[in-house]
Amino acid sequence: MSIAIIYPNRDVSAWVAALKAHDPTLTVEVWPEISDPGRVEYVLCWNHPEGVLQDFPHLKCISSLGAGVNHLLNDATCPPDIPLVRLVDTGLKQSMAEYVMLGILEHLRRVPEYRLQQQRGEWIPQPVPPISTVGVGLMGCGEIGRYVADKLTAFGFTVHGWSRRPQQVLGVNMFAGQDRLGAFLANADILVCLLPLTAETHGILNAKTFRRLPRRAYLINAARGAHLVDADLLAAVDSGHLSGALLDVFREEPLPKEHPFWAHARITITPHIASVTNPRSAALQVVENYHRAVQGQRLSNRVDRLQGY
Ligand code: GLV
Repeated sequence: MSIAIIYPNRDVSAWVAALKAHDPTLTVEVWPEISDPGRVEYVLCWNHPEGVLQDFPHLKCISSLGAGVNHLLNDATCPPDIPLVRLVDTGLKQSMAEYVMLGILEHLRRVPEYRLQQQRGEWIPQPVPPISTVGVGLMGCGEIGRYVADKLTAFGFTVHGWSRRPQQVLGVNMFAGQDRLGAFLANADILVCLLPLTAETHGILNAKTFRRLPRRAYLINAARGAHLVDADLLAAVDSGHLSGALLDVFREEPLPKEHPFWAHARITITPHIASVTNPRSAALQVVENYHRAVQGQRLSNRVDRLQGY
């Protein structure tokens, strides 16, 4: 019986080593070199080709290699009766907190402007607001969002959170549901999107959302490219209503060469690296879930297919 890793065109030797370090008896195979698909009981996948999940007749569980699962839910050929799980990992949360903090501080401390000033040989100090007066609006308060909120509040930001259903997050001014979206956005000098991608959140970063933000607000999207309506962002930044954006995720990845984000002076792009799973910190939960799946036990971090995360 085996675990198959499906992560096309990537070196997954660190994953194989990390899984085997926790359980040397495991058979771990790397797609497409699967010796016997009939022996595969657990699949760990990212960017898998559609249809491939149907090749394993004895699958007991499909795991995302990351926190997001939209790649699995959007694949109509993903077997509907096999449980899906995702990774919930401190390494992923910490990495996301670092990225968000970096984006916020770079923006507030005017780093892009200083780079331009440096090129021009200019010495011009820019004003900086006290961070307690900066409202950070966090869309998505799940495992990762709550961790990020905690780091931001500890650092001194005023954090507002928006989630689908009402919840309490220590130190965060929470808003829930569509009805409260406008009130939430009005507080967000910096809007950070960490939402799961679902039918409800698809395209949520659009012109209407941007209009409800304070003037000169800044956007950080580290969730999924399809949350954002690209043309609406360009219009909002070009009109001066938004001051800029930091984007880690795109509708098409890699971002096509001709896309206007590449050359935009006020849009910074990174190649989907905000929070990348580290096999060494995430492998144990995979091994544990593999054993649970094989023994028919309750799985950790199970995905609710209807809810979409
Ligand atoms: C990254 O995008 C993830 O979902 O883990």
